Amino acid sequence: MFDVNKVRNDFPMIRNNKDLIYFDSGATSFKPDRVIKAIMDYYTLYNSNIHRGDYDISISVSKTYDDTRKTIARFINADDPRCIVFSSGSTASLNLVAYNFGRNFLKECDVILTSQVEHASNILPWFKAREEAKANIEYIPLNPDATFDLKKYEECFKDKNIKVVVLPYVSNVMGYIYPIKEITRIAHEHGALVSIDGAQGVPHVKIDVKDLDVDFLSFSSHKMLGPAGAGVLYGKYELLEKMEPMMYGGDSNARFYNDGTIILKNVPEKFESGTPCIEGVLGMNEAAKYLMELGMENVEEYGRYLTRYFIDRLKNLDNVEIYNPESEAGIVAFNLKGIFAQDAASYFNKCGVALRSGNHCAKLLQNVINVTETLRATFNVYNTTEEIDRFVDIIKDTTIEKCVDSIL
Ligand code: ALA
Repeated sequence: MFDVNKVRNDFPMIRNNKDLIYFDSGATSFKPDRVIKAIMDYYTLYNSNIHRGDYDISISVSKTYDDTRKTIARFINADDPRCIVFSSGSTASLNLVAYNFGRNFLKECDVILTSQVEHASNILPWFKAREEAKANIEYIPLNPDATFDLKKYEECFKDKNIKVVVLPYVSNVMGYIYPIKEITRIAHEHGALVSIDGAQGVPHVKIDVKDLDVDFLSFSSHKMLGPAGAGVLYGKYELLEKMEPMMYGGDSNARFYNDGTIILKNVPEKFESGTPCIEGVLGMNEAAKYLMELGMENVEEYGRYLTRYFIDRLKNLDNVEIYNPESEAGIVAFNLKGIFAQDAASYFNKCGVALRSGNHCAKLLQNVINVTETLRATFNVYNTTEEIDRFVDIIKDTTIEKCVDSIL
């Protein structure tokens, strides 16, 4: 296990905000010094475009940019760095996959099998894909607490033409780690592909795409200690080869001609038109290295420990309702009885605690758990049990009057 005090000292946001308790890393994480340094170095030492300059600083930044594919491949245990497509984040990656299913991989009446825990970016692109291909969407019946039932899932394949299974590795509200390896095995047995939203999973859980055998995995840099504006689509090479880009422009083409013919570069460059978020990719490179140095097993274990610690403390309070008592990956959804989630969040803000309230962009989840708004505390490697203790003391003393006063 890593030394959390040493880790905390790596994060300027922690050093500079001694009184802030930040429990909203699920929305975006803090960044360690080395990530910020990578961005600063780029802007102050070798600011130049990639793949377009025949001079030292451009050649050097192009190399670091391209080497980041190797870092990310190592991070998720992909064999081939060409399977790492850079994007602007999870949303762009998920859209690219859904777009290709809509245009190329689905036929009329094929089925997209997904769930009602998805946040907007992993369901709205599939609504568009369904429309484009005249396909259907079906939802896997989850347990009432949104945990996964493999048996019910497998039954979904009976007499249906399911072409793709779309799920999160970790639900952004419920924090469960879904059994993706089993889910993928079953999907493949029935001839379906699997696209996983890794936005909340990749930063917290050790991921091995070879072992999971998923076909696509999307994630963002900014939730894994890296900068915003960069992200990844991992895809199996032979599938990426069959896909078309959503955008056309510089750097993704090898040639183009008067008659409109475009000869695209190979995977992954064919998906990366235009000047990308170079500093974002360089920062993500450092973020992934930092996490690997902490050890993703340790990151996972620490996330589980904080989650369990918080849930166990909340269970002793009469004024709290917890919605995901079996959560594993640093996400706890709860409410204070009789208090609207946003009022409580505004009061906690006054007490120096930052956390998210509302539906967390997972607007169909209410059909499963029967609650429209929750408070959501999300943890990362820099959070501590002391912070949780301080927060639990605040929760204990929270009343509806205090919450209402705080917003007047
Ligand atoms: N999808 C992000 C979250 O869950 C923004 O907060």
